[in-house]
Amino acid sequence: MKIEWECSENLFMDAPLELVGDCCQLAEGLTLSCAVHVLFTDDQQIRILNREQRQVDRATDVLSFPTVSYREGRTARESGKRLKAEWDPELSACMLGDIVISIEHAQAQAEEYGHSVRREVCYLFAHGLFHLMGYDHMEENEKKEMRLMEEKALNMAGISREEQTPHATDDELLALARLAMTRSYSPYSHYPVGAALLCKDGRVFTGCNVENASFGLTNCAERTALFKAVSEGAREFETIAIASVATPPYPCGACRQALNEFAPELKILVTWGEGQSAKTTLPELLPHSFGPSDLA
Ligand code: THU
Repeated sequence: MKIEWECSENLFMDAPLELVGDCCQLAEGLTLSCAVHVLFTDDQQIRILNREQRQVDRATDVLSFPTVSYREGRTARESGKRLKAEWDPELSACMLGDIVISIEHAQAQAEEYGHSVRREVCYLFAHGLFHLMGYDHMEENEKKEMRLMEEKALNMAGISREEQTPHATDDELLALARLAMTRSYSPYSHYPVGAALLCKDGRVFTGCNVENASFGLTNCAERTALFKAVSEGAREFETIAIASVATPPYPCGACRQALNEFAPELKILVTWGEGQSAKTTLPELLPHSFGPSDLA
């Protein structure tokens, strides 16, 4: 998901909102590239917005303003035409709307619920996003459905209140890799690649290839995801999903070696073309590998 930020300080850059956004839209079954505008603000400003836009004169945790007006009882997945009408050619994505989050409220609620501000911000973002996709919580059954969707998306992103929650499935990882591919920076090769790396603790880190005018500095999607993960403290990995366009994107030699450092038993999923996919493992792609144990 593309996020257009508006924030005085990037206080919550450690909250993986792009990933949460991808997981929310996939939980809803949307595979087209989507975008949102996010404003982080304080109680005073959110109160003004709430008063001006909704005639409610009080501060709140999150507000959302959808661009699409959904038909009664319908959500984004059943509103393809209306969504496509919001396609922004400059962003190459469908603009779903605006989300406003009060940092002050998020901090207070995190303390009240006994979890991190990071989790609270992810939850509020997911909540706002489901509103942008046509969900509401006026009736008890609607509220239940919206909560289920939020939990599903946050679990998929590895952000959950429970320790033991199901990890992203192979199909979900493949879909996350395809979405990560839409962020590829590949103006020289025109070969976009996306990757989604599942950690043993359930977190998922995504990455895309990032090319450079000097060519040799290009970073592959797999190593982007791996380096993001390791630099956030993750060291143990279960599966990597890799997506590209025309041919099966098996990892290059450098990526195989980099992945072997942390996960010599890694499962590897690749997808390309019109949803073709294949499975393999790192030992199969890198037999007789050289790794940390050889130095022991
Ligand atoms: N690429 C990857 O991202 N992963 C691989 O394992 C193979 C190659 C990228 C690098 C470059 O941006 C483009 O694909 C063409 O080589």
